[in-house]
Amino acid sequence: MPHTPDVDAIRSQFPSLERGTVLLENAGGSQVPRYVADAIRDHLLNDYVQLGAGYPASDRATATVERAHRFMDRFVNGQGIGRVILGSSCTSLMHVLAHSISRTIRPGDEVVVCEQGHEANIGCWLELERHGAVIRWWKADPKTGSLDLENLRSVLSERTRIVAFPHVSNLLGEIVDVQTATAMVHAAGGRVVVDGVAYAPHRAIDVRAWDVDFYAWSTYKVYGPHMGGLFARHDAIAELEGPNHFFIPKDEIPYKFELGGVSHEGCAGLCALPRLLAFLAGDERPAAADAETCDFEVVRRAFDAMASLEAPVQKRLLERLRAHDSVKIIGPESADIGVRVSTVSMVHTSLDPRRIVEIARSAGFGIRHGHMYAHRLCERMGIDIDPGVVRISPVHYNTVSEVDRLCDVLEESLSH
Ligand SMILES: Cc1ncc(COP(=O)(O)O)c(C=O)c1O
Repeated sequence: MPHTPDVDAIRSQFPSLERGTVLLENAGGSQVPRYVADAIRDHLLNDYVQLGAGYPASDRATATVERAHRFMDRFVNGQGIGRVILGSSCTSLMHVLAHSISRTIRPGDEVVVCEQGHEANIGCWLELERHGAVIRWWKADPKTGSLDLENLRSVLSERTRIVAFPHVSNLLGEIVDVQTATAMVHAAGGRVVVDGVAYAPHRAIDVRAWDVDFYAWSTYKVYGPHMGGLFARHDAIAELEGPNHFFIPKDEIPYKFELGGVSHEGCAGLCALPRLLAFLAGDERPAAADAETCDFEVVRRAFDAMASLEAPVQKRLLERLRAHDSVKIIGPESADIGVRVSTVSMVHTSLDPRRIVEIARSAGFGIRHGHMYAHRLCERMGIDIDPGVVRISPVHYNTVSEVDRLCDVLEESLSH
């Protein structure tokens, strides 16, 4: 049984949760615990200097950036098998990767992109057509939006170079079987680029178990600063040359792929994340947790605890929405945590998503509507791009009571 910490104790780590609005828009971005905010502030006030200059503050800043990278390697269970490249966002990292891969594309190479994806993992790959790549689509089911591994099989060939797909759609919340998909792509001789942004706030990333080549997520949706991470397996990244300046050696990974360097204060924030994770994992002295010693077992236990906290919240949310005949859940109706995460989208037969969000907003709830940059999936499913869907996305620090209060506020409107 995972350790299940008291939700009030967790919430007390996140001062912004007490600022008024009930934040149920975490798929857009999560809040940060006090530890992370304090570490960023401390860095800015004490060590906000350039790296590698040799004076004490510069040495400390250099150590912070290096420590953050080493911790991120362990955070995704990738230590020893690859490196995490940091950047300003998942989108920018995907572009850096696609640009580097474009230099290796030969005419006729096939690149598979996935209709279910966020545009961050689609648009940059379509660019490869200009370099001679043939684009093939892993299509989503028009009714459910789901992916079928047999459809993947049908678009793979001995020419497949790259298959870019999401671990979880940020619209549907459904979990894709990354391990099986990756094994299929590897059997065809291709490499996978997995967008884990919508998965990472809810479950531990385990690049070792899944054997993925590239796996990206956004640290600002996982209780950290506004940055992105891209895990790259050693053998996969060795085939590429990063775009950073010519005099930086090809094998200086991750720096060769970190254009202009990374956010130093962001790295300081990432180094403080182990304290939250240790707390969630049930460690006795979370404040003493350190980025240098926090290992994947702590990460796994923390995310197991988060999943067990989220389970009743997502169950209640789905139950309350399903109770309305006029509401259609976009994504799995099942509350099984093996099937989905707690990102729940819906439409109503007559009520405009804008109106639903407005009613919620005027009662103090932060939710949103839109296509969520899953533009192509909305088109495939026949969902109006504007206003799109209503998305409600709790995480571990949200409560059943918050969901109940939101559903109470919407009750009358949704029942028409
Ligand atoms: C599934 C998914 N992929 C990619 C992105 C883009 O992430 P970033 O904002 O870090 O570029 C998002 C952002 O919402 C997302 O939800």
